[in-house]
Amino acid sequence: MFEPFHFPNTDKVAKNRIALAPMTNKQSEDDGTLGEDEYLWLTRRAQEGFGIIFTCAVHIQKDGQGWEGEMGNFDNHHIPGLTKLAEGIRKCGSLSIMQLFHGGARSPEHLILKQPWSASSHDFELKDKKIPVRGATLQDIETVKQSFVKAAIRAYHAGFDGVELHAAHGYLLHQFLSTTTNKRTDDYGGSLANRARIITEILESIRLHLPPYFLVGVRISPEDKFTYKGIDFDDSLALGELLVQSGADFLDISTWASSNPPLKYPNTVPIISWFRQRLGNQVPLFVAGEIWSGQDAIQALNAGADFVSIGKAAIGHANWPTIVQNKDAIPALPPYSVEHLRQQSLSPAFIRYMNKWKNFVQE
Ligand SMILES: Cc1cc2nc3c(=O)[nH]c(=O)nc-3n(C[C@H](O)[C@H](O)[C@H](O)COP(=O)(O)O)c2cc1C
Repeated sequence: MFEPFHFPNTDKVAKNRIALAPMTNKQSEDDGTLGEDEYLWLTRRAQEGFGIIFTCAVHIQKDGQGWEGEMGNFDNHHIPGLTKLAEGIRKCGSLSIMQLFHGGARSPEHLILKQPWSASSHDFELKDKKIPVRGATLQDIETVKQSFVKAAIRAYHAGFDGVELHAAHGYLLHQFLSTTTNKRTDDYGGSLANRARIITEILESIRLHLPPYFLVGVRISPEDKFTYKGIDFDDSLALGELLVQSGADFLDISTWASSNPPLKYPNTVPIISWFRQRLGNQVPLFVAGEIWSGQDAIQALNAGADFVSIGKAAIGHANWPTIVQNKDAIPALPPYSVEHLRQQSLSPAFIRYMNKWKNFVQE
């Protein structure tokens, strides 16, 4: 866990195998400009020894915003804030990776002020409501691909070490991958290669526009979870190969429980081991999901991950990398008091958001 990692074909070295998972924290400004509280939350984790800092999901188009207070990267006026963040993280000796995303069907109309859109028209079910979503035109696809690429170029100029395309958790790129939300009959629907085309074209275009040492990875959900459906595990393994062929420098597998085997193949090895076996050593792998202790992390690394991405445990413990230097230490589990979370550099807005996560914040 504390061995450095050199990303192949680049000059990028992560000082350890511990990443801060991408996490929405609602601490930026209404126009997407970096907020001071978001800066403090992320740079605190860099100071405390996380080798890689992923930002939250950052919207690359106004109509892709998912939440209030979300950091944006859809206009050049965002660059000064992004530059400050990249510098703040670099000064601490960590690598910075910006997660780029579009919410698609899950971008709320009240926020984007227009009808949400997706791979195909469908009713997006949110609690007991059905939200009618429009299907993408070829122009929408062209525009959004360009927006992802421009956002990567801004991140590069701001000094980030790389970007991650968010193709997980039911957002736009995932909606294209899913056979439930993608019913297209053109080049962007049907076969896996067609459903993945929007992602592979973005990847290839970023590779064309930016130097090879700028990291570009993809986060995927390897199987169905919660309300997002239409992903087959074997397709996800094949997708991993496709993404590597299209130039991905790393894959980030979002499992929600890193020691679990796939639902399709219960009583087998953890999901990350399937990816390692399928991809060999072609590409660095990140895994996230219920990693709380040093032992959990070691188990995930032994199962095939190169990096562990720490989510909730990193919210509760800014100094998680120091705690797990004692590999038998078990950091305190939630719920956490508001005072404790304030000490971990969470603003009131982030703490209010964490109230929505069951049993995380003490009553
Ligand atoms: C508050 C919160 C916000 C999150 N926001 C994002 C996000 O913006 N992008 C993303 O890919 N995953 C997001 N996730 C998922 C995490 O990155 C991580 O995969 C998940 O929490 C499982 O890891 P954990 O069990 O260590 O928390 C979020 C999770 C939490 C708890």
